Amino acid sequence: MASIFITRNVPALIKQSLVDEGHTLSEWTEKRDLTADELIRHAQRCDALFSVGANQINKSFLNACKHLRVIALCSVGYDQANVTEATKLGIPIGNTPGVLSKATADVAFLLMQNVARKAIHKHKEILRGNWGFFDPMADLGIELQGKTLGIFGLGRIGYEMAKSCRGAFDMRVIYHNRGRNEMAETELDAGSVSFEELLQQSDVLSVHANLNKETRGLFNRDAFSKMKASAIFINTSRGSLHNESDLRQALESGTIWGAGLDVTAPEPMAPDNPLLLLPNVAVLPHIGSATIETRMKMMQLTVENLIAGLAGKRLPYCVNP
Ligand code: DGY
Repeated sequence: MASIFITRNVPALIKQSLVDEGHTLSEWTEKRDLTADELIRHAQRCDALFSVGANQINKSFLNACKHLRVIALCSVGYDQANVTEATKLGIPIGNTPGVLSKATADVAFLLMQNVARKAIHKHKEILRGNWGFFDPMADLGIELQGKTLGIFGLGRIGYEMAKSCRGAFDMRVIYHNRGRNEMAETELDAGSVSFEELLQQSDVLSVHANLNKETRGLFNRDAFSKMKASAIFINTSRGSLHNESDLRQALESGTIWGAGLDVTAPEPMAPDNPLLLLPNVAVLPHIGSATIETRMKMMQLTVENLIAGLAGKRLPYCVNP
């Protein structure tokens, strides 16, 4: 029997599957993130951590909680965790791959269509009382049929986005990735290109990569300047992959046509952020995985990781090398 600290209030069904294994649970019920000190204080009293949200599993946390037998992140991304340090300390870290790919790609697709047809902007215009005179050439959108979709990071989520875009709009798919994705090349006729070519050729450039040293801030002034003036930039991965002030400048100056973001840095985005007022921008509050079905599956994988780790077994979804 072990004790587990859960950093959010999770459904009873999920908790029951841990209780059924004989574990005891404590959970954070306040409607705010834990501070770093609070996270340490609670985790120090337990054997395992069920981490929901962007809790920083950094060096100071890990050194203060060396005794943890498993840390199960309820997310596929693990940039919030110092995996190298955890591995040195012998702490396994788990994540939730696969189960959120379709839901997250659906949000990229939703943002792409929103920006192409200015849907969020038009909704805001109605609220402002601006649904009036019909001008056939005013403030038009662009069509996606047959356009080129560029995927930066063609893993599971990027693949789902590419598949949807092929199916719905017969888009040509190009991608830039660390390695080749043979399945996408065979099934979606996707072409591997250099980063420069991705920037230059994409009508829609959708980011599906992990945040790391190489990708942080990659979409900056220089990158936007190489994109088409008619291009749409979509980011559903992590906000730190793009430089927000460079993006804003590119959008205001017409360097690119529009942007759809499900992720920002920091999160939450401040309500007075000027990006929110631009007509060619759609922003969502990091809802890529936010469907009932997907969140339940993510929590179930988190439970599987906890049960395995507490039994001294290799985690089924482990990010340590
Ligand atoms: C993930 O799983 O990494 C999503 O971004 C939700 O945090």
